[in-house]
Amino acid sequence: MFFNKETYTSRRLELIKKTGSGIIILPGNGECARNFKANTYFFVQDSSFLYYTGINLPDLILVLNCETGESILFGNEASFDHKIWMGHQESLKDKAIKIGIISVLEVNKLFDYIKNYSVKSNIHYLPTYRSSTSILLSQLLDKSINEINAKISIDLINAVVSQREIKSALEIQELEKALDITREIHLKVMSITKAGKKESNLVGAIENTITTQGSYTAYPPIVTVQGQILHNFNYTNELKKGQLLLGDFGACSHSGYAGDITRTIPVSGKFTVKQKEIYQIVLDAQNKAVELLKPNVLFKDVHLASCMTIVDGLKNIGLMKGDTEEAVAAGAHALFFPHGLGHMIGLDVHDMESVGENYVGYDDEVSKSDQFGLKSLRLGKRLKQGFTVTIEPGMYFIPELINDWKSNNKKCAPFFNFDKIESYLDFGGIRIEDEYVITEKGSEILGKYIPKKISEIEQIMLD
Ligand code: GLY
Ligand code: MN
Ligand code: MN
Repeated sequence: MFFNKETYTSRRLELIKKTGSGIIILPGNGECARNFKANTYFFVQDSSFLYYTGINLPDLILVLNCETGESILFGNEASFDHKIWMGHQESLKDKAIKIGIISVLEVNKLFDYIKNYSVKSNIHYLPTYRSSTSILLSQLLDKSINEINAKISIDLINAVVSQREIKSALEIQELEKALDITREIHLKVMSITKAGKKESNLVGAIENTITTQGSYTAYPPIVTVQGQILHNFNYTNELKKGQLLLGDFGACSHSGYAGDITRTIPVSGKFTVKQKEIYQIVLDAQNKAVELLKPNVLFKDVHLASCMTIVDGLKNIGLMKGDTEEAVAAGAHALFFPHGLGHMIGLDVHDMESVGENYVGYDDEVSKSDQFGLKSLRLGKRLKQGFTVTIEPGMYFIPELINDWKSNNKKCAPFFNFDKIESYLDFGGIRIEDEYVITEKGSEILGKYIPKKISEIEQIMLD
C-alpha cells in the first residue's frame, strides 16, 4: 500500500455511494505463466484493484457490498510451503488492516458469499482483459463467458472512471516520481546516442537505469530509427549518421503510476535542415495544444487545433496546399499524423483503457469518429481540473500509406503535393510527448523539463 488507510477507505466508500446498490466484484490479477506455470511474467496488478486497495499481490479479490457498506478482501494467507520458497510474508489480515479492511476471507468463501446473495442481476463487475478473470467470473456467477462479457456494469464503469480520472495531489506526486526516472533515461539516451551503436544498446541503458532505481518500464520501449513504424518494438538496427532516433519510453513510480515521454533526436547530434523544418512543425503543434488546455475545453478540439498547425506548417514547406480547415475536416493531415493527440495517464499508461476507451475518453456529448486518424484519438471529451493527459503530436512519412493515398484517396488528393512528399519517403518519423495536469485555469507540465527545443537537444548531444 502506498497511500494511507483513509485514502483507500474513502475511495471505496465513494465507489459504493456512486454505484448505489448491489455488490461490486473487483478481481485483482493473478500470476501469468510465460512458458510453464512456475515461470511467470513480471507481475502487474490490475489498476482498479490497486486504486482501491494499494495491494500489489496476486490472487486477491475485493468485494464491496453497497447494501451494508462493507469492504471484504478475499484471498488466501501464504501457506507454510509458500513461505519457505518465497520468504516471510506479512499476513493478508495485517495488510488489509492498513487499508482499512477488517474482513478477510478465503477465496473459496467468495462462492458462498455470491451464492447467498439473492439479487444476481445486481452484481457489478468491470470488463475483463485476462481470460483467467473471465473464467473466475463465469464460475462465480454460473454464466457463460459470452454472458459475462454482455453483463458488464456500465454503472460501475462510470463510477470508477469518474473517480480515477481526477488525480489527487498525492497521485500527481507519484506521476512526477515516475517522470523523475523517465527524465533520467531520456537524458541518458541523448548523451550516449551516436552512429555505430545499435538500438538495443540504448534499450539496455534504459532498462539498466530503470532497474537500478528499483523501478520497471510502464510499457515496452519504442527506440527506433524507423519512427514511421508507430509500434516498432524491434531493436536490431544500427544507428547511422543522418537518421533520426525516436524514443518513446517511460518508467513507473514504485506505486505503479506510469511515465510516458517521447523525444526524437538526430543520431549525429545535429538535425539536417529538412529534419529541423519537420521537427519545428511538430513542436509548434505541441505548443498550440498546450496553449488551449483548460477545464471545459473539448480535447477533440485541442487535437484538431494541433492538426491545423501541422497542415499550416506543411503548407509553408510546400508538402500540402489548400484551405487548412477544409484539409483537417477531410482528415488529410492524417497522412502524416495518423494517431491521436494524447490520452489520460495514471496507473495505466493509457489510463483505464481496460474498461473501454469510449467510457474513458468519450461521453454522451462527444462520440468517437470513424475517420482515419480521428478514430485513433483516445480522448475527445471535455477536460476537467485534475485530469492528467499526454500531448504527443507526431509526423511520419509512411511509404505504404503515401503510396496508397496517392492512388486511392480522391477526397484528400487536392491537399497534397505528392511530387514533393515523395522526396521524404526515407525520412522516418518524429513525435514529441509530454504530460500535463489540467489546473483551475489552464494546465501545468508534469515533471521537470526535458529538453525538446532543437538547440537544446543539439547542445546536450554535442556536450
Ligand atoms: N507510449 C504509448 C503512447 O504514447 O501512447
Ligand atoms: Mn502516450
Ligand atoms: Mn508514448
